[in-house]
Amino acid sequence: MPNDFLSFFLSWMSSPRRVGAVAPSGAALADLITREISATTGPILELGPGTGAFTYKLLKRGVRPQDLTLIEYGSDFMKLLQMRFPGARVLWMDAGRLATERLYDGAPVGAVVSGLPLLNMSTRKVVSIIGGAFSYVRPGGAFYQVTYGMSCPVPRPVLDRLGLRAKLVDRALLNVPPAAVYRLTRRPQMKIVAGSVAPESSARAALEPMQRARDYSAAR
Ligand SMILES: C[S@@+](CC[C@H](N)C(=O)[O-])C[C@H]1O[C@@H](n2cnc3c(N)ncnc32)[C@H](O)[C@@H]1O
Repeated sequence: MPNDFLSFFLSWMSSPRRVGAVAPSGAALADLITREISATTGPILELGPGTGAFTYKLLKRGVRPQDLTLIEYGSDFMKLLQMRFPGARVLWMDAGRLATERLYDGAPVGAVVSGLPLLNMSTRKVVSIIGGAFSYVRPGGAFYQVTYGMSCPVPRPVLDRLGLRAKLVDRALLNVPPAAVYRLTRRPQMKIVAGSVAPESSARAALEPMQRARDYSAAR
């Protein structure tokens, strides 16, 4: 929406590191980051929705408003989000606290969509955000992250520590500034079966909560 440019720019002026961009994301980037999401993805966690550029697109893709949880730390964007997305759960919260809150019972989230400016954050904070978000992600779910940088904004040691892998989805060169989207997913866990190594299947379900607890305590 045209008015969003002004409110976004003013927010950036007052808190450039938190807002991390001078303008809201454009249609091409919103299209790209939501490309693999549909009505069947289930609960979606959106981090740093700002004025809702990605949120609108998620709804257009058939995501039900009641499946949306929006985590925004900028008080300037809160009222706007509550007005625009009355059916969604809109929380004024630092995404770094995801692991210490209890946003869901269990881990039902099918996808996390993040416009957070991770490159402006400390490694410790990135670990708590991504580790915290994955504690809600169900097996097979994914975390989609925007970046204006040339490579994945989550450093390799952080991916290793959290047991994740990252893959470039694509670049949105028409966005201002040009951006890319990375998909983070859990690495398949392996187990020893009669002397050989095989992908873990049923044992994974039992081990995952322990793994998440270890990841989280390692991140602190
Ligand atoms: C680059 S803007 C992206 C906004 C929107 N997703 C878009 O693409 O137009 C980053 C957003 O993340 C929010 N943000 C920054 N740090 C945050 C944090 N720790 N927790 C929650 N939101 C945060 C900012 O307030 C801002 O709305």
